[in-house]
Amino acid sequence: MRHIGKTFPATRRQAAVTALEDVSLTVDRGQVMGVVGPSGSGKSTLARVVNLLERPTTGTVTVDGTELTALPARELNRARRGIGMIFQQFNLLDSRTALANVELPLELAGVGRSERRARAGELLERVGLGDKLGSHPAQLSGGQRQRVAIARALAPRPRVLLCDEATSALDPVSTASVLDLLRTLTDELDLTTVLITHEMDVVKRACDHVTLLESGRVVDAGALGDVAARPHSPLATRLLPHPAPPTGDGVVELTVSGDGHDAVLTELIRRYAVQVAVVAGSVETLGDQRFGRLQLRLDGAPRDVRAALDYLAQSGATGGDGADRLLAGAVA
Ligand SMILES: Nc1ncnc2c1ncn2[C@@H]1O[C@H](COP(=O)(O)OP(=O)(O)O)[C@@H](O)[C@H]1O
Ligand SMILES: [Mg+2]
Repeated sequence: MRHIGKTFPATRRQAAVTALEDVSLTVDRGQVMGVVGPSGSGKSTLARVVNLLERPTTGTVTVDGTELTALPARELNRARRGIGMIFQQFNLLDSRTALANVELPLELAGVGRSERRARAGELLERVGLGDKLGSHPAQLSGGQRQRVAIARALAPRPRVLLCDEATSALDPVSTASVLDLLRTLTDELDLTTVLITHEMDVVKRACDHVTLLESGRVVDAGALGDVAARPHSPLATRLLPHPAPPTGDGVVELTVSGDGHDAVLTELIRRYAVQVAVVAGSVETLGDQRFGRLQLRLDGAPRDVRAALDYLAQSGATGGDGADRLLAGAVA
């Protein structure tokens, strides 16, 4: 998406609403991109703009090398088949079995009966419902219904899967297993997945990249680990919660990760004549990386403490929100 804006015009009842403002966002092939923001921040509008269910007011959408915003209606319809979508409310047909629900998009595309049966059966097998082909939605749990919806979305072999609050109606256990399934399917079927949610925990479990939306604007974006370690927005700090706020002078907060910052601690202790005490800390796994937030108290001669703090600042481990303030407090 390049410079996407979306303004809903004023109606007799409502003033005009700008749902998206200058949103640019790239999702590379194979990624699971989380789009997170509070209610009303424009997430669903963004999802609908990706396949042009909603025409953006400004900007361009390009999927798999094709600029959708430039396509005539007929070609757009064909391109849309390359984009699957699932929703919070599953939107299954109650009168149809799981198998017949998954067959539906293939039916509409004119695929012959035996071929679509086979494909639908295979997909239901893949999402773990091989024994539920003949069940109706009412006989399935929420998590199972969403699995049927996933199988249905995948039936036309899309390259892109859009998920709008796909787990928001599910209990925590079903949420976890549906998220794990989406991650697995993305890898196995070479999909590119956009996971829209208001829940940071969903992002932490399933995504490798994240875009944070607030009032229709992107306030932070990047690899999950990078955004967590160097947040540029209050929303991003929720990816990697800080331990209780540091108390007292001489406490410095450090973010350590599996990508080499761990060495910072070892070096700190080896090189500088300071005593290092861990005051508070937390560790989280984000994407493929482990992150720790540590609050350290450094004790020693002022000169040594200052040198150690300089080293930490220079190493980048104290980068991010509030680090300067913490450092200043520590030096004071
Ligand atoms: N069809 C529409 N007409 C007018 N306003 C809309 C329409 N769809 C969404 N909006 C408004 O756009 C804003 C973003 O909505 P939405 O994209 O649904 O946010 P989210 O999914 O993050 O909750 C909200 O202020 C909402 O009221
Ligand atoms: Mg929404």
